[in-house]
Amino acid sequence: MGAGAVTYGCAACGAAARRWSGRCSSCGAWNSLEPLSGQSPGPTAAPVPLAEVDPGLARARPTGLTEVDRVLGGGLLPGSVTLLYGEPGVGKSTLLLQVLMAMAARGDRVLLVSAEESAAQVRARAERLGALSPGLLVSATPDAAAAAAAVDSAGPELVVVDSVQTLADPTAAGPPGSLAQVRACADRLVRLAKGAGVPLVLVGQVTKGGDLAGPRALEHLVDTVVTFEGDRHHALRCLRAVKHRFGTTGEIGLFEMGEGGLTVLDDPAKLLLGDRHADVPGSAVTALLEGRRPLLVELQALVLAGGGTRRRSGVGVDAARLAALLAVLECRAHLALGADDVFVSAAGGLRAAEPAADLALSLAVASAKTGRPLPDGLVVLGEVGLAGEVRQVPGTPRRLAEAARLGFTRALVPEATLPVSGLELLPVGTLAEALAAVLAGGPAEDRSGPEGPGPPEVVEEGRAGRVQAAHAVHAAPRRR
Ligand code: TYD
Ligand code: MG
Repeated sequence: MGAGAVTYGCAACGAAARRWSGRCSSCGAWNSLEPLSGQSPGPTAAPVPLAEVDPGLARARPTGLTEVDRVLGGGLLPGSVTLLYGEPGVGKSTLLLQVLMAMAARGDRVLLVSAEESAAQVRARAERLGALSPGLLVSATPDAAAAAAAVDSAGPELVVVDSVQTLADPTAAGPPGSLAQVRACADRLVRLAKGAGVPLVLVGQVTKGGDLAGPRALEHLVDTVVTFEGDRHHALRCLRAVKHRFGTTGEIGLFEMGEGGLTVLDDPAKLLLGDRHADVPGSAVTALLEGRRPLLVELQALVLAGGGTRRRSGVGVDAARLAALLAVLECRAHLALGADDVFVSAAGGLRAAEPAADLALSLAVASAKTGRPLPDGLVVLGEVGLAGEVRQVPGTPRRLAEAARLGFTRALVPEATLPVSGLELLPVGTLAEALAAVLAGGPAEDRSGPEGPGPPEVVEEGRAGRVQAAHAVHAAPRRR
């Protein structure tokens, strides 16, 4: 077969096509392309001039859910394979059903291969999410061969397989969900999708314990890996591309899980800071950077003085990081925590594992320990080193601009931070300085015992001016 040979013809209109597709590009008929007689649709690897290759085949097509498209860099590419994984109950099936429904609503033919739920269960869920369009097809089967046949006969513009672990390939070894089975099923579907030029999304389940082995083993097989994260007890969900052969991985999509499924979270601050009580000790706000997107989050701490068990626990923060920061607070900033119990948490179900949150986490603990709230309207940014130094973090202007946009007026930041309009900067070089700048003076509800010196009043030479300025800031009237 020569370069550019015609291999398929449309039974409806007779148009020729070089590759098989579910829909004739000339007349729009479904499933009408057939191999031309005398030709076998066997392997075609004949070299073609690059200039003659249709660039349209590498153009992403929007799904219709803008937040999903943003993460995917515009949408789904024909023949691309995407793996979506997340913990059970996070909302993977809901998200993809919404994608399928959005595409079907605009007239596309799409297929859900449901290996976990029956067709009736899928329908019940879909009815909660919106109107049903005739182009949304479902095939409920745990059999990989049946799934492949369904894709073949439906000729869809998107195939979602939920989930790849519950699918079984009778010709492969091992029980469903085993590595061999997951690989065999995925391999079969990937070949099918690539051959038909239809985008495929595979759902992978990961458990909290970190059983990533199944889906992770597929990462090299697929073009794009997207994670869906969130605490099932909270509404916030975050969609993130962690591998993307056709685009960047910086974007995240934020959703809120509610009665009618997932909705795009336009203003995450409402969810993350809405219930905040700024005048309570133990609360500090920092600006995380999720992809390229700044997110303001409240870090909370509770110190049970003399708890005696030295219990240190954190939710949404890295345990090793928390332990290190508590040690730095004691050794470098002289905040005696002794045998106190310390509890910290990132509000809203978010994970604040970034080093940029170090300073805010440390100040939340110090604020809780001293019983003094942080100044109103303050955002805190900075990594804390083991020597107690406060370091710059990447993307500072973006983070601070978002804080200013949300009405924060002051920012406790590392030295040499560039000014941001609308924010008064309080630069600090060390954690001890930071404590002196925002926690010295002010009302205290619970001072440390005789062994605890409280927040240091003495700071390094040459910094007094700034610290005094900070005192003045603290004395300013609070809004709340
Ligand atoms: P699901 O999409 O089934 O999660 P996954 O496929 O990742 O296991 O979502 C399950 C959770 O989402 C379940 O606890 C119920 C909740 N949910 C809502 O809150 N609202 C809704 O409209 C839907 C469909 C689900
Ligand atoms: Mg599911």
